[in-house]
Amino acid sequence: MIAGRYKRISFVPVVLAAVILLASCADIWCWKGGKGDISSMSIKTESFGRTPQGEQVQLYVLTNANGVKAQIMDYGATVVSLEVPDRDGKMADVVLGYDNLRDYIKNSPYFGAIVGRYGNRIAKGRFTLEGVEYTLAKNNGENHLHGGIKGFDKVLWRSESVNKPNAVGIKFSYLSKDGEEGYPGNLDCSVTYLLTNDNELKIEYLVTTDKPTPVNLTHHGYFNLSGCERDILGHELMLKADRFTPVDSGLIPTGELRPVKGTVMDFTKPTPIGARINSDDQQIKFGGGYDHNWVLKRTGKGLSLAARVYEPSSGRIMEVLTTEPGVQFYSGNFLDGTITGKGGIVYKHRYGFCLETQHYPDSPNKPSFPSVILRPGQKYTQTTIYRFLTR
Ligand code: GLA
Repeated sequence: MIAGRYKRISFVPVVLAAVILLASCADIWCWKGGKGDISSMSIKTESFGRTPQGEQVQLYVLTNANGVKAQIMDYGATVVSLEVPDRDGKMADVVLGYDNLRDYIKNSPYFGAIVGRYGNRIAKGRFTLEGVEYTLAKNNGENHLHGGIKGFDKVLWRSESVNKPNAVGIKFSYLSKDGEEGYPGNLDCSVTYLLTNDNELKIEYLVTTDKPTPVNLTHHGYFNLSGCERDILGHELMLKADRFTPVDSGLIPTGELRPVKGTVMDFTKPTPIGARINSDDQQIKFGGGYDHNWVLKRTGKGLSLAARVYEPSSGRIMEVLTTEPGVQFYSGNFLDGTITGKGGIVYKHRYGFCLETQHYPDSPNKPSFPSVILRPGQKYTQTTIYRFLTR
């Protein structure tokens, strides 16, 4: 009895002390910026100019509790800039793009855009579905690439801001009409970007249709974690994949899922992107560098780590998590110094890399690949996170 009462009396101050200690730790943590200041979370809207048709294009400036900033416009649902800290807390823009709308409209290799209806290539721009052959726009030699001549990267999306306790964001919507670029079905699409207080750019996709049709959306951000101070060849890449889909000379998958072990495609351990990029490998030759789809080694059904990239000079790390079965790693091989981007920076060869989470290229013509067909009554969903850390 005495012992019991004694315990009850001492319990109160112990709990109180613990609460005070935790509260003060949390305070210090906030003050140091580790958790951030939620009062600094904001969404601001600016004009980014007008399309040649006179439509107003909006630029949303999202800021999270740690001062991480993303600028996203409704033309192409495009991420225009993304400022994240290095190991000393210094912010830099880690994505490629332009300072103005005109250049995006004139000549953008999909900088930061949402790609659809189909990310990557469909061979010869055709496929057969339920006995009907469909012919798509051909915009990459004899093939269809990234949704065609006027893909989702070149349309104006409807937009609305989104506020969550731990994130600020924008929801974009677009109705792609039956027959657009040759595809069947009215496709109702929404893409929500969330900038979280965990320094993540989270992208949530939701699509429905009124006819069976292939769907494979992706985000085409070009990253350079040095803040574009140099090319991306020194970035160390890890891909959670032990197979990839080899391609022919037109970059169409052969249908094989080939093990990466013992090849230049093996990124199972962190490896500088430039370490083997000029090797005498046939796949590297076809791609002019890396431009291939890796088959992700997923852990379960939800979000699974796909890739981790580390840039040694700044200490910046980007992790990619996704619900998708594949990722296209593109090493910026077509960048050749003819594009001058934000702040007058010339985007020389391999100045940016893309990690496009997706279904495998040419799936509508490859019955052995996971299906990309969406049917009425079904929902296409995808979530991908680009998470920024330092070391
Ligand atoms: C993807 C393709 C590349 C290229 C780029 C855009 O990554 O696989 O071949 O088209 O987009 O330039």
